[in-house]
Amino acid sequence: MIYISVLIGSIAISTAVKKSRASEACWCWSQGQGMVATPYIHPPSKEYLSYGSYGAEADWSNADHILPLNYEQEQGKRIFYKQCVWCHADSTPSGPSNRSNLTPIPHLMNDGVALNKMKDQEIIRIIAEGGRRMGRSAMMPPYGQTLSVDDMYNLLPYIRVIATPAYPGVR
Ligand code: HEC
Repeated sequence: MIYISVLIGSIAISTAVKKSRASEACWCWSQGQGMVATPYIHPPSKEYLSYGSYGAEADWSNADHILPLNYEQEQGKRIFYKQCVWCHADSTPSGPSNRSNLTPIPHLMNDGVALNKMKDQEIIRIIAEGGRRMGRSAMMPPYGQTLSVDDMYNLLPYIRVIATPAYPGVR
């Protein structure tokens, strides 16, 4: 008798547990919903501040000013922080750069006074062929073998968009 009542009791408990499980939130499609996600229309007031699908960069000379970056500029930024920041530095105080030990000290990449004067092709050439081939310091390495042509052409719009004073026609 005791055995049977324990058995019935435990069956009752396990069905109760199953039922409560079934009513838990489920990350599955409910039947009415189908598999196609319908676009959710955001009222403009609820839109997040968006700088497009790619990145943004705080203006090196004014951190409150955010520069939206397009795809190429964002790729350029990525390569800059991988390859170039070690010598050219950015605006981070005491950042990872060895810039002050180089001769001559290279310009900051946002130095519009120096870089806006350089033509696109000159900048691409110094990146590809390095300083020595351009009659400049051999401390600027050639990247023609390391970077793809796309990488080099993506660095250029990044350099142009961060320039201070602004590069004419870019921002
Ligand atoms: C090992 C250190 C070093 C690295 C890494 C380096 N540069 Fe340079 N770069 C220099 C030096 C030094 C100069 C100055 C050359 C001169 O004027 O004689 C220079 C000059 C330049 C210039 C000409 C403008 C100027 O400052 O005089 C450009 C543009 C440039 N570098 C771009 C880049 C880019 C883009 C990268 C990354 C792909 C890069 N550099 C990586 C050391 C470096």
